[in-house]
Amino acid sequence: MAKKTRVTLGFPGHFREVAVSIPEGEPAPWGFDADLKVVGKRVPRVDGPDKASGRARYTFDLKLPGMLHAAVLRCPHPHARLKRIDTAKAEAHPEVRAVLILEEREYRFAGAEVAAVAATTLAAALEALRLIEIEYEPLPFVTDPEAARRPDAPSVRPDGNVAVSAEKRRGNVEKAFREADATEEVTICTPVALHTCLEGHGSLARWEGDRVTVWDSTQAVFDVRDSLARALKLPPEKVRVIKDHAGGGFGSKLQMWPHTPIAARLAKLAGAPVRLLLSRREDFLCTGNRHSSVQTVKLAAKRDGTFTALSWRSYGTGGVEGGAQTSGIIEGMYDIPSLEVREEDVFTHAGPACPMRAPGHVQGAVALEAAIDTLSEKLGLDPLEVRLKNDKSAIRRAELRLGAERIGWGRRRPSGSDRGPLKRGLGVAGTTWDGSGLPGPEVEIVIGAGGEVEALCGTQDIGTGTRTILAQVVAEELGLTADQVTVRLGDSYFPYSMLSGGSLTAACVTPAARAASAKARTALLKLAAGRLGADAAELETSGKEIRARGSDRKISWASALREAPGGRLSVRAERQGNFEGYETGAAGCQFAEVEVDIETGKVRVVRVVAVHDSGRILNPLLWESQVNGGVIQGISFALLEERIIDHRFGKVLSADMETYKVLGALEVPEIEVVPFPVAAGFNNTQVVGIGEPAIIPTAAAVANAVANALGVRICDLPITPDRVLNALESIAKGRG
Ligand code: MOS
Repeated sequence: MAKKTRVTLGFPGHFREVAVSIPEGEPAPWGFDADLKVVGKRVPRVDGPDKASGRARYTFDLKLPGMLHAAVLRCPHPHARLKRIDTAKAEAHPEVRAVLILEEREYRFAGAEVAAVAATTLAAALEALRLIEIEYEPLPFVTDPEAARRPDAPSVRPDGNVAVSAEKRRGNVEKAFREADATEEVTICTPVALHTCLEGHGSLARWEGDRVTVWDSTQAVFDVRDSLARALKLPPEKVRVIKDHAGGGFGSKLQMWPHTPIAARLAKLAGAPVRLLLSRREDFLCTGNRHSSVQTVKLAAKRDGTFTALSWRSYGTGGVEGGAQTSGIIEGMYDIPSLEVREEDVFTHAGPACPMRAPGHVQGAVALEAAIDTLSEKLGLDPLEVRLKNDKSAIRRAELRLGAERIGWGRRRPSGSDRGPLKRGLGVAGTTWDGSGLPGPEVEIVIGAGGEVEALCGTQDIGTGTRTILAQVVAEELGLTADQVTVRLGDSYFPYSMLSGGSLTAACVTPAARAASAKARTALLKLAAGRLGADAAELETSGKEIRARGSDRKISWASALREAPGGRLSVRAERQGNFEGYETGAAGCQFAEVEVDIETGKVRVVRVVAVHDSGRILNPLLWESQVNGGVIQGISFALLEERIIDHRFGKVLSADMETYKVLGALEVPEIEVVPFPVAAGFNNTQVVGIGEPAIIPTAAAVANAVANALGVRICDLPITPDRVLNALESIAKGRG
């Protein structure tokens, strides 16, 4: 039986009540004016002390008795066939316990796995790799996406190096362009970027009989379990995957990579646990990247700035695998009556792409927002006004107004009019993402005989604070403080949850936690009702005591639990489907102020204002941390990050943290994080994810600010000093 209830949706000035059906047993959403004690508070991370003191165990910290260390022999060529391999000398090494030759005989990127060894020390394993005699037959290769597109290019995949990934048309685009008052076209190039997690990829495998346990640095314990079961030809219940703490993932740990089954197979061969941790270099070459893009975006508008048509042509490469779409951002942002999209994936002999924090949207935002600024200037209109006119989200329009006030948009000068030598500029961009969650995940609440509370869920905390928000939600429902709840997660033996990706986790697991806690609460009150001689409906609980409302009769949880079978409680609940559609996704916008030194070409981001909606904010400390992280990673992408390949040799030149540059602490600007509270009544905690929406607009806003400062657009990211100086020189020549 579903019950009807009314919930409030909207944002200040635009609240409205809607009726929603709540499934039986499911708690109704908390009102946005509810007096919550733990949820919405700046509760420090429950695992903060463990992390700060070094007690927290990451996969890279784990050691087991008798554990062996593994290393992988990787193909040095971008494309080659195995001609001969002889592992006899490696096998004879006194410290080597297992040698594995992988089945694959053709390697399609430098870094592909060829063989692996396990030895008593890592040094011995690396030494044994050098004892493997190997001959390759080098094959024709192509790592440059431009070259890979040519018909005579060396073949990367049997079905061709180019695949159309998106094609879409609506309206009469040609007519709309002909009849527009103004059109502008920009071509924006973005590089391959790398996830650069603090903790890299690694697995530790241990067999007990025909069962294997793998500790893996992953965003997806259940997906790794299933993939590993397939790879080892085992039923999934014989595979257990554990991930306690992780130093980030950003999308690079959503899938199982080859090192995981390699560790498991070596452990089986050696009859001992095997730990295989990838080096930074291996991580950079082999475990995914953000695909590059070449986006040609043409936008048409009426004189007043109303968009009439958009043409989006894009291609990009993710190496041997992975899509390269960028146009996904359009529909959540602007109303455009006539649209054509054509996108292609280009395959090259380089390490594979995989999702990276808001895949495609980060790149797409740079192109879309560049086209809007360019067209606005042509029409002589304020680019902010043009956005306000076309933005389809009322939430984001309100956020744009608020952000403009905070950054001081009124100070923005016409592009290129700051005389320098330190030229200032302002830019803006929007974000959209749907992290409203999915049904399916389960949480189990266990209340032990002494009243101790545990919440169990197979979800994983990838550093975002999932443990803490789960503790808060359970505590809120049970009348406790967050530190009275022990959250156990990151284990495929716990109740099912999905991967931690797509900014879905908070909105997936907290509703299940709340529903399970509500069930536990009901069960506790029922137990107490008999003892107190009261109706369960008159009882309330806080501080592990149950009392009748308006009376001083009370009993402790521990004594109420004596009535329970086994003296304890254990209940589970599953995340239900969303009650009501959430119209816009997580809307937001960011404003950037930059200063460009026209003598050195260096860009400094001075200030960023980030205005974001993500439904209810469970914990402002963690939420701000996500937004800060998104902004920092976005600036890094705009100004520094780039995987560089020498296409003559197909060799990655930036496979370490010295040559692959990321933003340093001293380059982080002042970031003003502005929560924009929106009531969203679609699940019982009313949460929407914030991890990905927070990075989407940053590089776009920075690039627009640089264009505003200089009066010329730098169309290639990252915006490095040499590109700034070249752009300035081109204007000077144009004038000369
Ligand atoms: Mo994210 S790219 O879904 O970790």
